[in-house]
Amino acid sequence: MKINVQKDMKKIKGLLIVPYFKEYAEKYPTFYTEELKSLAEKIVKEEDFKGKSLEKYFFTVDSEKLPSKLVFIGCGKKEKFDSKDARIIGAEINNQARNYKQKSVSVLLTPELDVYAEELAEGLLLKNYRVSKYKTGEDSKAEDKKEVTNVTFITNKEDKVKKDIRKGLVIGESVNLTKDLVNGPANIVDANYFQEVAKELKRDFGYSLKIYDIDKLRKLKWGGLLAINQGAKRPAKCIIIEHKGGKFSDKPIVLVGKGVIFDSGGYNLKPTRSIEDMHSDKAGASAVLGVFTALKALKIKQNVIGVLPLTENLIDGKAVRPSDIITMLSGQTVEISNTDAEGRVILADALTYGATRKPKYMIDIATLTGAAMIALGDRYTAVFSNEKELSNRLIEASNETGDTFWELPLHKEHKEKMKSKVADLRNADNGTSYLAGASKGAAFLSFFIKDRKWAHLDIGGTAYTKNPRKYEQTGATGAGVRTLIKFLEEL
Ligand code: BES
Ligand code: MN
Ligand code: ZN
Repeated sequence: MKINVQKDMKKIKGLLIVPYFKEYAEKYPTFYTEELKSLAEKIVKEEDFKGKSLEKYFFTVDSEKLPSKLVFIGCGKKEKFDSKDARIIGAEINNQARNYKQKSVSVLLTPELDVYAEELAEGLLLKNYRVSKYKTGEDSKAEDKKEVTNVTFITNKEDKVKKDIRKGLVIGESVNLTKDLVNGPANIVDANYFQEVAKELKRDFGYSLKIYDIDKLRKLKWGGLLAINQGAKRPAKCIIIEHKGGKFSDKPIVLVGKGVIFDSGGYNLKPTRSIEDMHSDKAGASAVLGVFTALKALKIKQNVIGVLPLTENLIDGKAVRPSDIITMLSGQTVEISNTDAEGRVILADALTYGATRKPKYMIDIATLTGAAMIALGDRYTAVFSNEKELSNRLIEASNETGDTFWELPLHKEHKEKMKSKVADLRNADNGTSYLAGASKGAAFLSFFIKDRKWAHLDIGGTAYTKNPRKYEQTGATGAGVRTLIKFLEEL
């Protein structure tokens, strides 16, 4: 998708989107031409158009001074309008273009909107994402045909708007890449696929890359990741990527992402109703890779390290059993009390490694528990942290991106529950595991952070949706990507 800017309506053809704020009823912005004003007055008087959020009115016009198709889009009240609404309007512009079968669309950026060019661009691009990648034939061609390829923003603040558009497109691309990895089926998007994508993107996005293959993991004794991988044919990997945007001596921010390519539950097999979406259990790792595609383009002045432990959680004669006791990379022993609590086991090793990099902050992102969804639903990502300033920063960033986070408690008693009678720790507290499940997942991880300043983002409820927002599709949402980028930017 290309988005250009232009300072007036000259030569604009096809479809024009005209935003309308409620206050325009009293005073139109100078940007509205006489022709637009009279059209607006007409729908206000004759059609009871009020400019309510997402209210729409379509005109076909036959005039030298206006393009042939026009959609007024209500934006509600000026004072209530924010960046989150702008993202939704961006998506709606894309919708309208599709509706009227236009690959090109122009948007009049009135003064209330030109400050949100970034979010508009983001919304426009996010709405372009399609889940039909693996379709062949007519269906997929029909989808391609509808894709919006050219957008023109009409504004008198061309330079600023241009910059903001670029940023919105960079972030939108990162989210769309993440969605593609999450939605990809496990037989195709496996650990090897992640490796190939990470390698391929390395040149364009300027990060360095290190791969720990199965031999290296064995040599280094990543006992947690190896145990979960035992039942799978395809070998585990850990991808380590680094962006050096800060000074050499700046402590890095470590981002760890859960990369369970498919989570069958292992011998604690998942029931039919919840197993079929478990190719999305790699959403954490996908989000971290997505974030890395924005760091250089946005000139993020931080040293950032991404750690992506990748494996499937399957069953066979070699698979880890409930009751097995394993030795982790940290040296701690863990009783595998439930093979379906696999994410925390692979993350534990990745956090152990992350802590050795002496991070300023360490943040992990994971579809760790179904309990996060029970607690907070499908709109709020659960945050746990041992550092108030860190969780506050993350939550503040999330309030701006609309990718909302909410803090949940992590108490000593949750940690107590994760101690085992036969090993140092157990990965699930059988019997009462349904109580505060998200907190106990976090509690398990907290034993592996070596007192680093740490936050854990549980995207179990938010990474994959059947109830998409305006700028989302059914399936992967890219939860966490926009917020982590914003967090790093504002650090
Ligand atoms: N990947 C799942 C969590 C999950 C389930 C995320 C459904 C999104 C939708 C995770 O590995 C898991 O199975 N967690 C268990 C933990 C339990 C066994 C302690 C859970 O949440 O039930
Ligand atoms: Mn599981
Ligand atoms: Zn899982």
